[in-house]
Amino acid sequence: MNAILTIALSKGRIFKETLPLLAAADIAPLDDPETSRKLILDTSQPDVKLVILRATDVPTYAQYGAADLGVAGKDVLLEHGGEGLYEPLDLKIARCRLMVAGDPNHRPRLGRPRVATKYVNTTRRWFADQGRQVEVIKLYGSMELAPLVGLADYIVDVVDTGNTLKANGLAPLEHIADISSRLIVNKAAMKMKHARIKAIMAGMAAAVGA
Ligand code: ATP
Ligand code: PRP
Repeated sequence: MNAILTIALSKGRIFKETLPLLAAADIAPLDDPETSRKLILDTSQPDVKLVILRATDVPTYAQYGAADLGVAGKDVLLEHGGEGLYEPLDLKIARCRLMVAGDPNHRPRLGRPRVATKYVNTTRRWFADQGRQVEVIKLYGSMELAPLVGLADYIVDVVDTGNTLKANGLAPLEHIADISSRLIVNKAAMKMKHARIKAIMAGMAAAVGA
């Protein structure tokens, strides 16, 4: 019997869009995380389990080896820093852009503009690299609200269709990075479980290219 191989995924779009890629590696979950309360899902392969996490926690589980593999957005990886991880495959799913956004007609306050975001590290880096002094305010969601109620002058968030910004009278202003989800691999697992991880990577890579 092989050691268990654990793959970390978040519910929602990453789970849905990763399913066909896992299927190409002959891995099918036996439960649906949208309806089941289970956090560890068995799969069609008895020695492969899926663990269901918050999107931002996926790199942490993989970094510490609590998961061997994971799927995480590049936005989440930029923010986490990627320590202890390989990032061997761009899965080209959950594509969007990380942007600075705001009300194009708004005049920023005197002094340091305030930027609200859940991506505080990436945001600090983006403005610092350009020598622009800003105050970064950490939020956990609904970033688009912050400029509407005077909490911040700008936000940094992911944008896909732009509909959420538009519905709130905001517009994309600066492009920070193109985002897609990546397969991540714990560095020790890549050595210890190399043959099995290589096979999964090959199956997923073929499906990405298809
Ligand atoms: P949590 O609910 O734990 O705060 P989240 O809301 O960021 O996390 P998801 O909405 O499932 O979780 O997003 C997962 C990933 O999908 C993000 O990290 C990002 O890479 C990508 N993503 C987010 N929003 C969009 C979108 N509107 N269109 C395409 N991809 C997106
Ligand atoms: C994300 C993100 C934005 C929105 C951008 O939120 O935080 O609010 O999507 O997408 P858009 O440019 O297409 O409007 P979330 O995942 O909560 O929203 P979603 O379910 O609408 O994608």
